[in-house]
Amino acid sequence: MLLSIPKNKSLYLAGELKIRVLDGDLEIFGTLYKKGDEIVIPRYRSAPAKALSVVGLEIKFGEEGHISEHDFDLIPQEWRILAENILNMNKKQQVIMVIGNVDVGKTGLITFLTNKAINAGKKVLIIDADTGQSDIGPPTTIGLGIPEHPIIHLSQVRFLDAFFVGATTPAGIFNRSIAGIIKLINFAKKEDPDIIFIDTTGWVEDRGGRELKISKIHAVWPDLIVLIEKEIGELNHIYKPFQNTDLEFVRVPAAPILRSRTRAERRKIRKSIYEKEFKDGKEVVLELEKLGVTYGFFGTGSKPKEETVNAVKFIIGRDPGYFEESEDALIFVDNSLSPKEIESLKRYLGKREIVIINRDEIKYLLVAFEDKNEHFLGLGTLLDLDPIERKIEVFTNVDPSKIATISFGYLKVNPLGEEIGWLTPWVL
Ligand SMILES: Nc1ncnc2c1ncn2[C@@H]1O[C@H](COP(=O)(O)OP(=O)(O)OP(=O)(O)O)[C@@H](O)[C@H]1O
Ligand SMILES: [Mg+2]
Repeated sequence: MLLSIPKNKSLYLAGELKIRVLDGDLEIFGTLYKKGDEIVIPRYRSAPAKALSVVGLEIKFGEEGHISEHDFDLIPQEWRILAENILNMNKKQQVIMVIGNVDVGKTGLITFLTNKAINAGKKVLIIDADTGQSDIGPPTTIGLGIPEHPIIHLSQVRFLDAFFVGATTPAGIFNRSIAGIIKLINFAKKEDPDIIFIDTTGWVEDRGGRELKISKIHAVWPDLIVLIEKEIGELNHIYKPFQNTDLEFVRVPAAPILRSRTRAERRKIRKSIYEKEFKDGKEVVLELEKLGVTYGFFGTGSKPKEETVNAVKFIIGRDPGYFEESEDALIFVDNSLSPKEIESLKRYLGKREIVIINRDEIKYLLVAFEDKNEHFLGLGTLLDLDPIERKIEVFTNVDPSKIATISFGYLKVNPLGEEIGWLTPWVL
């Protein structure tokens, strides 16, 4: 389709679309596109375009692709003023955190601000702390990336590192979410950027959302917090705890139109990313002795002392089979200890944890691998474990020779990239 747009009109672009600029100046998320430029808007995403002159376009519509013309700017004026103010802040390493509910345009605002900043010659790094709808790094991770050219969507930035939190929602693992942000900020600062943007999850309400956001703010203490609101004041409960501090807040309105995503679509998007992550994956056997294990018990103990074996036999009145012992825990695999036996073991052996790993249950548990410098290498899914040979079998495309550490998540994802269930943290 050929289209001519009058000067100052806006065009809402919903993917999938392929666009070629035939004539004129078209602005998308703060970047200028000119004659001959080609733009792709992927499915499930949208972008705001504005004709800065009369613009001629050729548009190819893919699945669900559609457009609409508007007289008003799809980038709110407040976003533009914010970009000017950020560019005028002459401080190095500014940390700017964007907070808002789901589907208000948090990621779009960061896309816009990023383009404005890099077009002005600033070095920008982005931390994507949205573990469900991750654009940088796979779902279940907090990602760090660097935009090397103007972007239409955040997944176009170059991946630098990630921190695996183990699930698509921070529920129950707030500490990992905070640890991940801090770790990546420290890493990002070594790159000496002008600006670090932090994108966050849309969980801003109830005691969980408050706990998470308040803690993130305390931990990061950003130079600026941008509250993005559909209705004025809807984030007052995030602002009020800090109203007497020197923390700087700015409020901007949500995007007037955007492509929201249903839960099913979000799941589908995640599946396609896991698929890519597991592409060319294979079965890999890892030896526990050479492996660091985080966020799990299995593999952190060693062969039990003889007196412990005898005591366990005595307490439960039978041979317990193989188990691991650490100062704080006894770790069994496929053992059917009764709650009473577990209590007795805790009491008489002074162990705080009796862990019973069910091998069927943990099949396809999502795991991640880090190298010896604690950089993220990729995801894997647990196939099996062998407590006697002290081995773990995983499906992954990560090069096993680089693996220093395995981290256990608590979401289950099979090698096809399908999320198939949840466990509780620390089940193994
Ligand atoms: N001003 C805008 N005009 C048109 N589309 C936009 C605008 N802002 C964002 N979008 C697009 O709309 C889609 C959803 O917006 P976005 O991802 O920014 O929302 P979000 O608040 O980050 O959502 P989530 O809570 O899922 O992270 C994205 O494809 C984004 O590029
Ligand atoms: Mg987002």
